[in-house]
Amino acid sequence: MTKLSINHKISVILQYKNMVILDGKTTAQSIKDQIQKDLQAYLDKGHRRPHLVAILVGEDGASRTYVDSKERNAKALGFESTVLRLPETTTEEALIACVQAFNQDADIDGIIVQSPLPKHINENLITQTILASKDVDGFHDVNMGKLAKGDESGFISATPMGVMMMLKAYNIDTQGKHCVVIGRSNIVGRPMSLLMSANSRYGNATVTICHSKTQNLSDYTLSADILIVAIGKPSCITADMVKPNAVVIDVGISRIDDANRKSGFYLRGDVDFEQVQHKAAYITPVPGGVGLMTIAALLSNTFKAYKQHIS
Ligand code: GUN
Repeated sequence: MTKLSINHKISVILQYKNMVILDGKTTAQSIKDQIQKDLQAYLDKGHRRPHLVAILVGEDGASRTYVDSKERNAKALGFESTVLRLPETTTEEALIACVQAFNQDADIDGIIVQSPLPKHINENLITQTILASKDVDGFHDVNMGKLAKGDESGFISATPMGVMMMLKAYNIDTQGKHCVVIGRSNIVGRPMSLLMSANSRYGNATVTICHSKTQNLSDYTLSADILIVAIGKPSCITADMVKPNAVVIDVGISRIDDANRKSGFYLRGDVDFEQVQHKAAYITPVPGGVGLMTIAALLSNTFKAYKQHIS
């Protein structure tokens, strides 16, 4: 073996040894443990339990899995959890009537309508029908506006909030760093860019937003100290696109068909984890990374809504 290749191998091993996998499972669990502890103090004073309602329209397999997981996690914390499962043929008017009924129920703290909705339903209309004070997904215009202005009384979309909780848990330095967010969706990319650029402890980054029309994507990703990817294209961020020792946050979670597995699929992120783990300083795995943080953030929002409602 030549000296160069030995040195290369040693540097890869050292880099690998220094690399930290951002563990969504333990981080989310410690957040959930804290919520459970805080909730007990309210229950001890005789207050009711927090109540989260999820509405699922249609039969989409991934959406069903997500809603089941939200219900299971809410119940595990001692929250009341109601899931309303409606058929694909549900009309927009009927769905609005359901949301309005939940809005009026004083014992319900949080309402989420799982997206995507069937094509005949105007998703934005449904989002705006949920009371802003019960919009624990943080999708309502009032909550998006509060986030944009740095007003902390609203709710922040669960996935970007979960990413911020992860950065905080690992005390990752973001001040003055270059953060590149790939994706500009209202659910992830846009709120993520607002949070990372906010004047806050785990914000204060210089943020670039890339999207489907960005030219020469690598020019941006290679200068990213913090790279946050939310585009839904499996393994599309390869090692040659990543700056050495970057913080790599993978929001993507795609189902890849695999007849050899009992479930019929496996999960892949937007980042080629096998390659990129050798180059990054910190990286989130898929599964086991951001997805679990999203649920912890949703429960945290629901608990925040509960405290606002009972006070
Ligand atoms: N679909 C994908 N992500 C989400 C989410 O965070 N909330 C809802 N309601 N639907 C989704």
